[in-house]
Amino acid sequence: MQAVQFRAYGSPDVLDVVDTSEPVAPAGGVLIRVIASGVNGLDAILRQGFMAEQMPVEFPAGVGLEASGEVLAVGEGVTGTAVGDVVFGFGAATAAEKAVLVTWAAVPATVDPIEAGGWAVAIETAGRVLTLLAPAEGSTVLVSGASGGVGTALVQLAVARGLRVIGTASEANQERVTALGATAVVYGDGLADRVRATAPEGVSAAFDLAGSGIVPELIEIVGDASHVISIADFSAPEHGARVSTSQTEADPAASFAEAIAIDGFGIPVAATFPLARAGEAQELVAGKHSGGKVLLVP
Ligand SMILES: NC(=O)c1ccc[n+]([C@@H]2O[C@H](COP(=O)([O-])OP(=O)(O)OC[C@H]3O[C@@H](n4cnc5c(N)ncnc54)[C@H](OP(=O)(O)O)[C@@H]3O)[C@@H](O)[C@H]2O)c1
Repeated sequence: MQAVQFRAYGSPDVLDVVDTSEPVAPAGGVLIRVIASGVNGLDAILRQGFMAEQMPVEFPAGVGLEASGEVLAVGEGVTGTAVGDVVFGFGAATAAEKAVLVTWAAVPATVDPIEAGGWAVAIETAGRVLTLLAPAEGSTVLVSGASGGVGTALVQLAVARGLRVIGTASEANQERVTALGATAVVYGDGLADRVRATAPEGVSAAFDLAGSGIVPELIEIVGDASHVISIADFSAPEHGARVSTSQTEADPAASFAEAIAIDGFGIPVAATFPLARAGEAQELVAGKHSGGKVLLVP
């Protein structure tokens, strides 16, 4: 089968599409025929070797953390999922014709399985940070980067949890954020004033999804660093705020279930690429303005 791999740390040139052996469904996992594999910021970070110490890889290394697909085989101990089911979830080396998922859920019948290939990381991350800060129902929260993949999921989960959401985005993406049920504001200079004008009741929690260096400003807006969390700014702890990176901090399956239960839940697809253009897809995502999920479709 065909799969994307990188043969060394480096630029997108180290990515190849290769013929490789098919994975086998492990105990507790499923083997899928990949319909789409989501591209995430971490893919390029891993390829460039920026996480070589924390997450070392063996070369040639597979690419991709999430996918949707049709179940071809179920591993020992798997219940509730059968061959032929269409699922989305987390795996490894998912940028391939076939891949193993280790955490998954069924793609709702009303959802395009290609779109669902980009759901797992965004939903898990959004559900995790929301659960970690646990803002009180009815309170107002601020989402920096509400128009991105994680932000789109977070706004929908937060609205469904009964929160009022103020979401930041570029001028071009204001309507997209409003359509999710949030109040949109433009990011950049003067953000705190715009948020205060929009939310005189105050903001109970803030989520830095963009990693744009505004953690101190978010702390000032919320008034309490312990109610500010970042997923992309590792300097946040220097200011007393938290960084969250690990799936083990919450329950991915619970977040999948929560998202699926929301009527009309979705994360727009910005672009799809064939496996051979994985480098281009990673570069688009690394630019941080892709406008939705970028997917590789084998
Ligand atoms: N720690 C974790 O567990 C974890 C998990 C998943 C992702 N991440 C990281 O979190 C980040 C977001 O992921 P994503 O998939 O949501 O990315 P994405 O889809 O590319 O979204 C990026 C978001 O950031 C906004 N943005 C870009 N430049 C900005 C700026 N200067 N100021 C404020 N906002 C800005 C974009 O708004 P416009 O498009 O409207 O400009 C968009 O809303 C990435 O760095 C990713 O690597 C971390």
